[in-house]
Amino acid sequence: MIRQFFAALIQNTISMAGTALALSAFVLILALFAFQSLGFQGGPYLGILTYLILPALFVLGLLLIPIGILLHRRRAAKAAGDQEGPPLFPVIDLNRMRTRKMVLIFLGVTMVNLTVLAGATYQGVEVMDSNEFCGEACHSVMQPEYTAYQHSPHARVNCVDCHIGPGADWFVRSKLDGAWQLVAVTLDLYPRPIPTPLHNLRPARDTCEQCHWPANYVGDKLMIDTVFAEDEANTELRTALLMKVGGLRGRDSEGIHWHVDPDIEIRYRSDESRMNVYDVELTKADGTVKLFQPRDMPPEEERGEWRQMDCVDCHNRPTHIYRTPAEELDLALATDRIDAGLPYLKREGVRLLEAADYPSHDAARAGLAAALEDFYRENHPEVLADRPEAVAAAGRELGEIFSRNVFPHMRVTWDTYPDHRGHPPAGSRENTPGCFRCHNRRHRTADREAISSDCMLCHSILAEREEDPEILRLLNP
Ligand code: HEC
Ligand code: HEC
Ligand code: HEC
Ligand code: HEC
Ligand code: HEC
Repeated sequence: MIRQFFAALIQNTISMAGTALALSAFVLILALFAFQSLGFQGGPYLGILTYLILPALFVLGLLLIPIGILLHRRRAAKAAGDQEGPPLFPVIDLNRMRTRKMVLIFLGVTMVNLTVLAGATYQGVEVMDSNEFCGEACHSVMQPEYTAYQHSPHARVNCVDCHIGPGADWFVRSKLDGAWQLVAVTLDLYPRPIPTPLHNLRPARDTCEQCHWPANYVGDKLMIDTVFAEDEANTELRTALLMKVGGLRGRDSEGIHWHVDPDIEIRYRSDESRMNVYDVELTKADGTVKLFQPRDMPPEEERGEWRQMDCVDCHNRPTHIYRTPAEELDLALATDRIDAGLPYLKREGVRLLEAADYPSHDAARAGLAAALEDFYRENHPEVLADRPEAVAAAGRELGEIFSRNVFPHMRVTWDTYPDHRGHPPAGSRENTPGCFRCHNRRHRTADREAISSDCMLCHSILAEREEDPEILRLLNP
């Protein structure tokens, strides 16, 4: 009986090919699965093979078997002179012992198949939702985002928590999207750099608000920034701000997080990049509406879709944080990764990084280290002679800074991904208007009321670039 069942599987070429395919895929899946259960870490590619490609081949093989049998029966019937051919579906007569046995064997084999497929699907989803898969499977494509993410406060939060969130509908959408992305990567159809913002990102209330909630009252937050002057001594300066983050207090919100009060709605229209904001419409809890518009705007149809403001309109870089050369050097000096005793290190580091134009990270590491050494050899030979290791270490750090922020193969450079959570310092060349996209003098209501840009609206400035701020001495005597 069992022999008959399996004889049917190899009775014609198509079914035979199907059986061979299904069988080899089956054995491979089990073997690779056993391998991985034993702790062998194969990385994302092995996961794709084990849980996506092989199961797909397995199913394909299984489908080929009945197709082959059907075609075979048609041909046999034709040859026997039966013009109509056999019925499309086999006649199952459960009164016959033979058929009953066949059906039982079929059900048994199907159970085994389904178990393996269910296991593979479950594992496949796990693999596809892992950070390694998101960040490394298309390694060169996601390298900028993955690198920036690993050096951020959200480095332990999974990609899928922000990019997919809970619920079946977004899960399906993301998988359809992902399937297209696999095609795009395979055929090299993806844009470089990956454009920002993501217009189909899920609203922050479903993602960020799994862990943060707008009603959480933060109040005033003391923020202390350490920067270094571009002088010979790399003088350390401090800026201290009292940031009015606020939040929900009683029934009303105050401060910066007032924007995300559930009773307030702010929506706006802008260009694709969201850098040029046109109409801004505020609807308060009592239903009053204010519309702010700059005077020079493109015509109605070119002003894009309305977007409801949420967390990501300020925190667009909660985890893919790219810093400017100056910010990176300040951080490296403040944390003693490079030696503030080297003369003009801040100024030269910024100059070299801003001018850096290398085709790869390796070229940058070599080039920047050599360029810094050249600077000291020409201008401060005594420093290079006395402390060659300090110069070499600083040179290495410049290479690391470049490699964390600039990705030549994806055409990502210092200012590709602007951060909206602030504004450029006075007189800066940075293209990061942030809050000032709306808080400026240009956006006004019909009766000329502006969105405030008062320097005290969002923070009090306790000290600005001071060597030894009195306020910090007071707080930390
Ligand atoms: C804390 C939430 C969060 C996590 C975790 C996260 N992302 Fe993002 N991601 C964002 C936000 C927010 C944006 C930018 C949205 C915008 O401006 O439209 C973004 C943008 C991106 C972009 C578009 C390019 C860009 O930088 O704007 C890619 C690609 C991306 N993320 C990939 C990943 C990958 C891969 C991981 C995991 C290694 C990951 N993300 C983890 C929140 C997150
Ligand atoms: C899975 C939970 C989780 C999700 C989802 C999440 N966060 Fe966070 N977030 C955290 C944790 C934990 C911290 C604290 C990290 C720390 O203190 O180092 C944090 C810190 C922050 C901070 C403060 C960072 C700093 O510099 O101190 C901001 C801002 C923030 N998150 C915004 C967001 C935004 C915007 C999103 C959605 C795009 C988001 N988070 C999604 C868990 C999450
Ligand atoms: C109008 C701009 C804006 C919006 C909208 C906004 N934030 Fe913030 N948020 C800020 C600023 C500015 C700070 C202070 C700087 C910082 O800590 O990053 C801040 C601080 C934070 C912090 C750190 C708080 C702490 O205790 O240190 C978290 C977490 C945070 N925001 C989460 C969110 C979440 C979640 C949303 C959406 C529900 C949101 N923010 C909406 C501007 C905004
Ligand atoms: C999309 C436009 C937009 C952006 C971007 C934006 N704001 Fe606002 N903001 C508004 C509007 C509109 C108001 C209300 C103005 C009014 O009431 O007349 C407002 C009001 C405020 C207020 C006063 C809240 C209160 O209690 O009344 C603060 C503080 C503030 N914003 C901070 C920020 C900060 C900080 C950023 C950047 C991190 C920012 N905003 C970015 C549109 C914006
Ligand atoms: C709409 C809100 C808002 C307004 C108005 C505003 N700022 Fe700010 N400012 C911010 C935020 C948010 C940051 C924090 C950026 C960050 O997280 O580093 C900031 C940071 C700063 C810093 C520190 C920068 C640094 O590099 O350490 C200074 C100085 C400053 N602001 C000065 C001003 C002055 C001067 C004005 C008036 C012309 C002004 N701000 C108006 C929101 C605002």
